[in-house]
Amino acid sequence: MQKYVIHPSSSLSFNVLYIVLELLFIDSAFSFLIPRKHLRRSVCRHSTATTESLERTYGGIVYRTSVFNKEEYAIIAEDVARVGTLVAESPTSMAKRRRGAILPSNSRTVQLFRHGSLQQFVQQMTSSDYELSEEVPIEIRSYDQAGACMAWHSDDILYQDPPQVEIIWTLENTSDCQTMWKTTTGQVKSVETEKNSVIALRAGGPEHCVTSLKRGKRIILKCVYASKKATFVSQTQDAAQFQAVKTKKKKKR
Ligand SMILES: *[C@@H]1O[C@H](CO)[C@@H](O)[C@H](O)[C@H]1NC(C)=O
Repeated sequence: MQKYVIHPSSSLSFNVLYIVLELLFIDSAFSFLIPRKHLRRSVCRHSTATTESLERTYGGIVYRTSVFNKEEYAIIAEDVARVGTLVAESPTSMAKRRRGAILPSNSRTVQLFRHGSLQQFVQQMTSSDYELSEEVPIEIRSYDQAGACMAWHSDDILYQDPPQVEIIWTLENTSDCQTMWKTTTGQVKSVETEKNSVIALRAGGPEHCVTSLKRGKRIILKCVYASKKATFVSQTQDAAQFQAVKTKKKKKR
């Protein structure tokens, strides 16, 4: 896990060390150097491990860069732009001054999330048959107003046995806010989430937060992957809130 974490105050030499470590572990951070064919094969490989590396290796939270290729990224950016107006989240939300919307279920992005390299990554992390949730939609969340932030919390368990994996994929980030989490030993870590990166974390697992934005903008897509074996137990407050808006406009299905 260490190797993915750069503290904001990190010096140049630390960054160099980070790059060396990344090269040693050649992973998706350098996927642009690896021909697509080979990348697919390595991402796809089936693990025989019975323990989930998300917990075992990463303590329940992992950060990866270069998730989608250029064409896929462009498709997602277009879908997000098409959604247009984002709605302020209710004040009961863990987040403050954040805006959001639900991505229509027929958008190409949903297909990319359901069958692309992100799903393969989640399956690799969990050594299991995780699939994009049918119940929880993909949400767009935008931190673009001063003071936008999200308090420390652990994600609500929406699926049981096992709990779902929550995904935060960054569309763009020119902001100065930080993503932070606590390790199982209580250490606070942070990461500078870059465009086309992903954070995967276990619901009910590591506590995390986003510090208050002063300048810039950060747009993410949030979604949920669940095991075929898991039982859906409840809807998120945030999703329910956006869905209420959607239902009102459409006058019930
Ligand atoms: C967004 O990017 C900036 C600049 O690279 C970085 O300092 C910051 O930590 C990132 N924000 C988040 C929430 O990851």
